[in-house]
Amino acid sequence: MTRATILLLLLLLLTLFFSSSSSSRCHDGDKKALLAFKDSFFSSSLDATWLESTDCCSWHEVLCDKATGRVNFLQFNNNFPPAVLLNGSIPAAVGDLSALEVLVFRSHPALVGPIPPQLTKLRKLYDLTIVGTGVSGPVPSFLSKLSSLQQLDLGRNSLSGAIPPSLGSLAGLTDIRLNDNQLTGTIPASLFSKMSKQYLAYLDLSGNKLTGQIPSSFGSVEFVYIYLSDNRLTGDASFLLGKSKNGPYRVNLTRNGFEFDLSKVEFPDRLGRLDISHNKIYGSIPDQITQLRDLLWLDVSYNKLCGKIPSGGSFPLFYDKYYAHNKCLCGEPLQPCK
Ligand SMILES: *[C@@H]1O[C@H](CO)[C@@H](O)[C@H](O)[C@H]1NC(C)=O
Ligand SMILES: *[C@@H]1O[C@H](CO)[C@@H](O)[C@H](O)[C@H]1NC(C)=O
Repeated sequence: MTRATILLLLLLLLTLFFSSSSSSRCHDGDKKALLAFKDSFFSSSLDATWLESTDCCSWHEVLCDKATGRVNFLQFNNNFPPAVLLNGSIPAAVGDLSALEVLVFRSHPALVGPIPPQLTKLRKLYDLTIVGTGVSGPVPSFLSKLSSLQQLDLGRNSLSGAIPPSLGSLAGLTDIRLNDNQLTGTIPASLFSKMSKQYLAYLDLSGNKLTGQIPSSFGSVEFVYIYLSDNRLTGDASFLLGKSKNGPYRVNLTRNGFEFDLSKVEFPDRLGRLDISHNKIYGSIPDQITQLRDLLWLDVSYNKLCGKIPSGGSFPLFYDKYYAHNKCLCGEPLQPCK
């Protein structure tokens, strides 16, 4: 063998070694999709960091599955430097990252336009987070095609229109946050209806323009929290509570038009925070509330409550402002009862 052949053989061996140990290197199709994604933004700092000559699995916002080399996380959290400013709309090319499991856009005010239908190609996506952006248009009904979806967080955008009932067909979707948008219409009764009873639900619809009543089907859903504050909801909400329930731990119904008799409510044992202020709730505060050992925050102000504020046990007496502006509540920390 000549020296040249030996060198050639060595080179060949080296190439083989590197290509077999490169399972974390970027998948070709994924890289193509990411470069198309980058090119669709006007003036993005991605130009400087997403270089075609480098392994896309090493790019700051990208994570790859170690075993398959496929891009499975794409996260633009604009919370800490070095910040990437996304200026433009969500590129259709994101739909070509077919192994994607988590997609996050957080705090990108110049990210605008609607949620693109190409997202429905992401059949492995379990977390879709678009928070604090200029994204507008509806909460698309086609999101129900994301069959792996578990968490949908679309808070603090400019979304409008109604909440699509189709979201209720996703059995694994346990966490829905659509807070601080301009959503109208009623809350679909279908939400969480296909969810397995062993799961706990999370719902934040606060800061919208929702009307109508809370669907009675929510009475059989175990919530960890349910935030409906700052809407135009009406009717009864007492069925969200109940002594036999595991949850909810946190309930926030402030600034709506809820109207029910609080005297008849039994609070769940593990209730931690209850804010029912600024409604039309009547009756009195049940004594049973003094038995809640985890209660950290209670606000019943600005309602039509009457009677003596319960005391006893280790029940913390919250500041007077949390009982203020009711019809005739009395006793500590307000005026003594007559
Ligand atoms: C986004 O890009 C457009 C077009 O280049 C530009 O006019 C606009 O000022 C940019 N917006 C932000 C917030 O950078
Ligand atoms: C309920 O939500 C409002 C905002 O909508 C907030 O100001 C308030 O602190 C919340 N209450 C609790 C107990 O977290």
